[in-house]
Amino acid sequence: MIDINREIAALDWQREPLGLYEPIGYTLAAGGKRLRPTLALTASRIFGGNEQEVIPAALALEVFHNFTLLHDDVMDKAQVRRGRPCVHIKWDENTAILSGDQMLIEAYKLLAQLPADRLPEVLRLFNTMATEICEGQQRDVDLAQAASAEIADYMLMIRQKTAVLLATALQIGAYMAGADKAAQQALYEYGIRVGLAFQLQDDYLDCFGDERTFGKAIGGDIREGKKTWMWLQARAKGMPDTQGNVERTLAEYRRLGIDTMAHAEIQRLTDEAQTYLESLPRNEATDTLRRMAEQLVTRMN
Ligand code: IPE
Ligand code: IPE
Ligand code: MG
Ligand code: MG
Ligand code: MG
Repeated sequence: MIDINREIAALDWQREPLGLYEPIGYTLAAGGKRLRPTLALTASRIFGGNEQEVIPAALALEVFHNFTLLHDDVMDKAQVRRGRPCVHIKWDENTAILSGDQMLIEAYKLLAQLPADRLPEVLRLFNTMATEICEGQQRDVDLAQAASAEIADYMLMIRQKTAVLLATALQIGAYMAGADKAAQQALYEYGIRVGLAFQLQDDYLDCFGDERTFGKAIGGDIREGKKTWMWLQARAKGMPDTQGNVERTLAEYRRLGIDTMAHAEIQRLTDEAQTYLESLPRNEATDTLRRMAEQLVTRMN
């Protein structure tokens, strides 16, 4: 089985100018769950694919994900990621913008290493996903500025900013292994549900997590006025406008039982995700996906 951390560590960022490349090495060396490349490789294994062939795509997905984090942390005014200062804090905003841009380019350079006969379809899937992430990030900004919103607005926003990347990682892995359209679609749909649950859990941890294990500061979403599922549910249950006050908002969430509601919704989405695995071959790799979905529900980091 491929050791994705070893593959990532083998990427060389000792290049000049250091101001451009050092932040890339810093970011990729900081760890993280490596969820997206793991999904791509696992999807390929379901269909007996050659994992070695998937590596450039798996790496491209992780480098692309890390690129989005550099820009996201500027947009969200975040201070810490993976327990370390964000790039725009350790260096500055210009660095986060430009090193982020270069990471996006590096992701495409990795994709370009794929076998020529597979590249057009992988590029098509990757580009569709990348555009949706930008659309999702813009919706996130728009919602934070909106006076009110519906749960459906939130669900569309997190589908685009988070879930499509997980879904596309799975689909690319399946496509590379020669899976048919129906199987690719089933994995995509699984990935969407897991991705929605994953973002809801991220929003939950932003409120109730432990900064040391989560690796990010608690309360950032509330301070930035993010219209999360929890915020929208609390408002619908009569929570007053807490004006970005973290302590007051968390107290309201607890009083209204929003934390318990969020857990139930995360579990519901995860259960729905699992149903899409039923049509796939039953083997070690599908079992891994089933287990991964369950672990994400209770994850603390
Ligand atoms: C963070 O993704 C961005 C979200 C979609 C919530 P991860 O939680 O997968 O971040 P790392 O890569 O493990 O640090
Ligand atoms: C992240 O959503 C989505 C993308 C980076 C595209 P968040 O803003 O909630 O992610 P974190 O919490 O900063 O990791
Ligand atoms: Mg953020
Ligand atoms: Mg964000
Ligand atoms: Mg978050």
